[in-house]
Amino acid sequence: MGLWRTPPKAQLPKMAMVVLLVLVSLCTNGVESRKAKNVDSFEYSAISCRAQSASLADFGGVGDGITSNTKAFQAAIQHLSQYDSQGGSQLFVPAGKWLTGSFNLTSHFTLYLHKDAVLLASQDENEWPVIDPLPSYGRGRDTAGGRFISLIFGTNLTDVVVTGENGTIDGQGELWWQKFHKGELKYTRPYLIEIMFSENIQISNLTLVNSPSWNVHPVYSSNVLVQGLTILAPVTSPNTDGINPDSCTNTRIEDCYIVSGDDCIAVKSGWDEYGIAFGMPTKALVIRRLTCISPFSAVIALGSEMSGGIQDVRAEDILAINTESGVRIKTAVGRGGFVKDIYVRGMTMKTMKYVFWIAGDYGSHADDGYDPNALPVIQNINYHDMVAENVTMAGKLGGITGDPFTGICISNVTITMAKKGKKVPWNCTDVAGISSRVVPQPCELLADQGPEKIGACDFPEESLPVDNMQLQLCSYRGKYW
Ligand SMILES: *[C@@H]1O[C@H](CO)[C@@H](O)[C@H](O)[C@H]1NC(C)=O
Ligand SMILES: *[C@@H]1O[C@H](CO)[C@@H](O)[C@H](O)[C@H]1NC(C)=O
Ligand SMILES: *[C@@H]1O[C@H](CO)[C@@H](O)[C@H](O)[C@H]1NC(C)=O
Ligand SMILES: *[C@@H]1O[C@H](CO)[C@@H](O)[C@H](O)[C@H]1NC(C)=O
Ligand SMILES: *[C@@H]1O[C@H](CO)[C@@H](O)[C@H](O)[C@H]1NC(C)=O
Ligand SMILES: *[C@@H]1O[C@H](CO)[C@@H](O)[C@H](O)[C@H]1NC(C)=O
Ligand SMILES: *[C@@H]1O[C@H](CO)[C@@H](O)[C@H](O)[C@H]1NC(C)=O
Repeated sequence: MGLWRTPPKAQLPKMAMVVLLVLVSLCTNGVESRKAKNVDSFEYSAISCRAQSASLADFGGVGDGITSNTKAFQAAIQHLSQYDSQGGSQLFVPAGKWLTGSFNLTSHFTLYLHKDAVLLASQDENEWPVIDPLPSYGRGRDTAGGRFISLIFGTNLTDVVVTGENGTIDGQGELWWQKFHKGELKYTRPYLIEIMFSENIQISNLTLVNSPSWNVHPVYSSNVLVQGLTILAPVTSPNTDGINPDSCTNTRIEDCYIVSGDDCIAVKSGWDEYGIAFGMPTKALVIRRLTCISPFSAVIALGSEMSGGIQDVRAEDILAINTESGVRIKTAVGRGGFVKDIYVRGMTMKTMKYVFWIAGDYGSHADDGYDPNALPVIQNINYHDMVAENVTMAGKLGGITGDPFTGICISNVTITMAKKGKKVPWNCTDVAGISSRVVPQPCELLADQGPEKIGACDFPEESLPVDNMQLQLCSYRGKYW
């Protein structure tokens, strides 16, 4: 079955390293060169390295873009799951086009894509089992009832890595988008990667294109690291959100480039009465070094499904181009829950409809069973050190009558309005807060503290536990092709 025990590089005895180097140099020319191509070695950073490693090709995989590899993926991971408690395992996906339906991950496991590997998501609905709606949503996002399972799915796992030198996962979403527009969906569309009820997760250095719907959905999970993703979808494609941390604790999203038809990042925690009953917030979330292009949606949306609460989100070093709004809060009567302790600094924005947008009237309910007395609590929202140009409206901040959104702080923000921008750049209702050094002058509900209070808005200094997630260098040698 082509399994190798691969000790971490540091543990290789010096002698073996010398022999290895000699072998490698012998193989770089002459008759041995063909053989040399069959023995490959590679290394990358991960939260854990694995003792066992195998290639999809060893399980009957065919990378021709036509043959279905669903069974090969399932058989490979089923086989490798036996090493859970023996140092874990890795499945290598070689260069090629690997058509596949959904498959499930296992614990202490790494899925590693070669840089020229493309996973092509099957367009055959039979390749997508239907699973229950999320308990915190009560129904699927597209239809009542069940939902198609995600392409790469995992539940109740620990220590899982999905990575690979910028290899590609292609959702082939066009057909799903058409079904969505024509109202032909029997169930909610699949996501590309969904990890549920899990901890110690790394999703890194991949390109995700044309997802049928959301791209990456960690839900009910903790210690989640998302790094180095390129996510691309047509800006008109429906609900192709980039990364949606949902009822998760300790999540770190870094160095991602997202062009999408919906929010680049949408932070969530369940929907109306279902989310309130489930009661699992998203908290301790770090987002840094994000580039977002999304003309019809937000750079970062908080909500609209936020009924379990969202707390302690820290976002910094963000570039947005041709995007509808910056860090947007979306909520409604009936949501309950809270959005509090939100810290955003260091955003550069070019061509925006709204820099700031808070909407307490988002609507969109799971069903008619929502509680009209369940009002969201929105407080301590900090935005500072930002520059935006070519802006249509600086801020549209709307709380809920009888439920004002409080503690909104905006400082050191320079907004240059577009030639055709709104004459009244700010419109605030049912909000309360302060401002300092904001151009153009904000609405009166954000009481100006004077220019010397430029540092009025908070950003916590102490780091979060998720910043302590360590990566190690893993290296592998074997016959992977
Ligand atoms: C993957 O897991 C889900 C949820 O546990 C299950 O419904 C589905 O049948 C599993 N798929 C396979 C191929 O085992
Ligand atoms: C997964 O974990 C959740 C929450 O702990 C639990 O309710 C569920 O039964 C578990 N599912 C499986 C398949 O073990
Ligand atoms: C990964 O691939 C995408 C798509 O081809 C490309 O835009 C991006 O620059 C690549 N990222 C890296 C780090 O090479
Ligand atoms: C991602 O790729 C970059 C550039 O090759 C590398 O520096 C980084 O360590 C990788 N990170 C992860 C988590 O794979
Ligand atoms: C104001 O924000 C800019 C970035 O837009 C930053 O470079 C500058 O240091 C900030 N000024 C203060 C006093 O914090
Ligand atoms: C400014 O924004 C408008 C849309 O509001 C866009 O058409 C125009 O190209 C932008 N100008 C620049 C210089 O980016
Ligand atoms: C401000 O927003 C409110 C609520 O959306 C709206 O009714 C009002 O017309 C707006 N005012 C201006 C000046 O645009």
